[in-house]
Amino acid sequence: MVREITILPGWDKSGNREDFTDINLKAGETIAIVGPTGSGKTALITDIELLAQGDTATKRRVLLNGQLPGDEVRYNPAYKPIAMITQNTKCFTDLTTEEFLQIHARARRIADQKIIQDTISLANKFTGEKIKKDTKVSVLSGGQTRSLLIADAILIGAAPVILLDEIENAGIFKQEVVELIQDTGKIIIFVTHDPAIALLTKKRLIMGNGGVRKVIYQNELELRAAQKLLELDRQVGVIREEIRAGHVITKVNLA
Ligand SMILES: Nc1ncnc2c1ncn2[C@@H]1O[C@H](COP(=O)(O)OP(=O)(O)OP(=O)(O)O)[C@@H](O)[C@H]1O
Ligand SMILES: [Mg+2]
Repeated sequence: MVREITILPGWDKSGNREDFTDINLKAGETIAIVGPTGSGKTALITDIELLAQGDTATKRRVLLNGQLPGDEVRYNPAYKPIAMITQNTKCFTDLTTEEFLQIHARARRIADQKIIQDTISLANKFTGEKIKKDTKVSVLSGGQTRSLLIADAILIGAAPVILLDEIENAGIFKQEVVELIQDTGKIIIFVTHDPAIALLTKKRLIMGNGGVRKVIYQNELELRAAQKLLELDRQVGVIREEIRAGHVITKVNLA
């Protein structure tokens, strides 16, 4: 079980030591990583995904449950507790969606076949154009692929740590992603430019020049601002789907 991930400081792009003792991320916590383009957001979650031990550009070290991760955990995919999904994640295989999930379920020693359909159903909550079980994974769209991999990471991979790199721009429904944030018992980390997602997470790491500059904890006001933003987003979403479906908007007042 992963109870806790600890990030130990490395060096920013100018070679300055990061100014924190350690950053602890606990099971059940959601974390946002924000900052300008090129500030080191992807580098930070890559450090977590690799369980870096001073062997990446940032020289950070990452501990699992307060201890150095063993080679088995770092290098054997069957033991890896971390799933990372990026904007560019793509599946290169000739398998159908069903076969792809079956192989993963078998590798994870899950006998109950129901998990296959459950995973496809969960993926279809995230994405507009439904995924069918006999669709080849290689022809899924970008948004469908990421939706499938997120659902797979949650249900079949049962990864206790999920890293999501800017998935909000990938045609994935925000409300459903937000549901994902609620008490899953996992550590879920969002690299995000989306204000609602950033404000809904418990902790926010602010990046600059390749280093963690600040850690901000969610407060009550921010949570309320996030709820407002979500309501706005929901309204935008309704219009967006109407437009996608080829309808004409006939009301000026959206609410
Ligand atoms: N501490 C560091 N030391 C050296 N190089 C770094 C450091 N942090 C990040 N980099 C490098 O800087 C570049 C930009 O970093 P990164 O891709 O993580 O930015 P980003 O915040 O994810 O940007 P974007 O918003 O465009 O995705 C990468 O090549 C990365 O390897
Ligand atoms: Mg990035």
